[in-house]
Amino acid sequence: MKMETTVEIQFTDQELQKIENLKSRYLKPDSVILEVLYLLQEKYGYISREGMKYAADLLGMTEEQVLGVVTFYSMFNTKPIGKYHLQVCTNVSCMLRGAYDLLKKLEAELKIKKGETTPDGLFTISEVECLGSCGTAPTIQINEDYYEDLNEEKLVQIISELKNK
Ligand code: FES
Repeated sequence: MKMETTVEIQFTDQELQKIENLKSRYLKPDSVILEVLYLLQEKYGYISREGMKYAADLLGMTEEQVLGVVTFYSMFNTKPIGKYHLQVCTNVSCMLRGAYDLLKKLEAELKIKKGETTPDGLFTISEVECLGSCGTAPTIQINEDYYEDLNEEKLVQIISELKNK
């Protein structure tokens, strides 16, 4: 299992300036919490407790308030994830079109359970809420890309291609 290591969280002067510019557009500094969290995740790969504390200090929020935002949105990761983040939608449309079979197939194929990362650090499986692509269900998001109208065969092919990239 991949261990979390403590990394010192620090935005560059340029990143801090960007946040300050955004803050100046709003009455309340915490209005830019999502931008701060996106930046933390882009920079460190996930949002650690240290990252949440950093965001809280930066925006005058409590750590609990930041934790509430981080855990509300499925796009934020609170622990290190694999190179490919397989986000399986199991909401109604996808569920009716076989999302749980796809999830089981992924778990069997990669020999991990949802919420886990393969030992080589390549894949993490997550179960997520509606991805807004119900018309082409079942849908899986892999990093920033959507894979739609999937079946087990297509999924295995996609995983195989990613392994060989
Ligand atoms: S239910 Fe899966 S994308 Fe909407």
